[in-house]
Amino acid sequence: MPSQHSMACDIVVFGGTGDLALRKLLPALYYLHRDNHLHPQTRILALARARHETTAYVQLVQRHVSQYVAQGDFDQNSWEGFAQRLDYMSLDVSQRVEFPRLAKALGGQSDRARVFYLATVPSLFAATAKHLASVGLTDGRSRIVLEKPLGESLKTANQINDGIGAVFDEARVFRIDHYLGKEAVQNLLALRFGNALFEPLWRNAHIDHVQISVMETVGVENRGDYYDHAGAMRDMVQNHLLQLLCLVAMEAPVHFEPEAVRNEKLKILEALRPITGMDVQDSTVRGQYSNGERAGEKLPAYYFEKSVDHDSNTETYVALKVEVDNWRWAGVPFYLRTGKALAQRKSEIVIQFKSVPYRLFGGIDQPACNRLVIRLQPDESISLSLMAKTPGRGMALQKVELDLNFAEAFKRRRWDAYERLLLDVIEGDATLFMRRDEIEAAWRWVDPVIQGWQDCYRSPKRYAAGSWGPEAADSLLDRLGHAWLDER
Ligand code: BG6
Repeated sequence: MPSQHSMACDIVVFGGTGDLALRKLLPALYYLHRDNHLHPQTRILALARARHETTAYVQLVQRHVSQYVAQGDFDQNSWEGFAQRLDYMSLDVSQRVEFPRLAKALGGQSDRARVFYLATVPSLFAATAKHLASVGLTDGRSRIVLEKPLGESLKTANQINDGIGAVFDEARVFRIDHYLGKEAVQNLLALRFGNALFEPLWRNAHIDHVQISVMETVGVENRGDYYDHAGAMRDMVQNHLLQLLCLVAMEAPVHFEPEAVRNEKLKILEALRPITGMDVQDSTVRGQYSNGERAGEKLPAYYFEKSVDHDSNTETYVALKVEVDNWRWAGVPFYLRTGKALAQRKSEIVIQFKSVPYRLFGGIDQPACNRLVIRLQPDESISLSLMAKTPGRGMALQKVELDLNFAEAFKRRRWDAYERLLLDVIEGDATLFMRRDEIEAAWRWVDPVIQGWQDCYRSPKRYAAGSWGPEAADSLLDRLGHAWLDER
């Protein structure tokens, strides 16, 4: 059957033996193949330094795909078709002399789009682009996909972007933030801009504060090498959390098209009040997990993790109080937090509306209600907490929830973020990708916070692995009479 959507292309994955390729990209491509979204002529070429025969690589991919797709979704027939598309080549990206081999392998197909997916360390991005150009692989039909983190600061991000920009014009650069590919994140846009109900309330006159949490139960797993240099601020806040904040806070774009959406997000990044000097102590909390346990299982401290420095000062947890200085949001705190090795895995956005101006009825505290929770993980749902009268005599009120669970509402398989984003790249739709100026604005805001931490020489606050994070993160909200929405 012909493909339903995408055009024929060559997808070239640099870092083909890495974690990201094996756990996320190839399973996502398998689904796209299985569900007939890849053109029959589309090929996938994985590249890495390791020497593998293609057959051995295909077996490696099979092991991972069968493990990482949902139970029951791996079928032998689809797999065999997918394996036909797959090829592997050993290549050292730092060596220009190796690229003519790549050009030869891709040769003779200049009519098709080429997608170069760089799932490698960012320090190799610029050189890879340059080497691709040197062998004529970067014509107008080619695209480059860059995985985060893009640099470690504004300066290094600019170096990378300059190197990429020398070869690919901005419209052909796809900077991935996989959070933007999550179904629930797009639902946030649908909720805000597909319903007239919320818009008049979506502002400082009615919203008390916003919480954005991305909490993980996993530690750094086998990524200690990368993570110990990055930390939670660069790994999660600079990209995923700020992007979520943008989607909550931005104005309606004039069209649902790349430039219009990204212009609105950029305005929010530019409106973030800088956190500098002493404000860093007042408005931020950084933590690092120590020994702990979850459900009776002992969990190691961060500094015992593989490839992590025993004296490491890297943060595995960050909480921030952020202000957006514009008319819509002045005076509304946005609390952001993210961390590893926590008690519960959950990603959610909480919109806490203001209490009624005057309490007519008894019952529980108003702040527990008037709340919209958009849950991204582990399940996808939207719930609205309201006050309702309890049955019987009198006017005692209690909280009730209007709950929309997406798995129940739409009985279809949920796409993984990478499936959606890979298809967007093939089709050349950059709406859900970050533009260079967004990355710069995000680093411009993040850099002084990291600098402030370095200047004060304070170690991160310890929290037990398996707990809810450092106590200081609770005090951050407590000061303004707020509290994280957790069921502890
Ligand atoms: C990645 C981070 O971007 O996102 C990881 O590098 C993190 O450290 C991951 O674990 C979380 O993604 P998800 O989709 O599992 O919430």
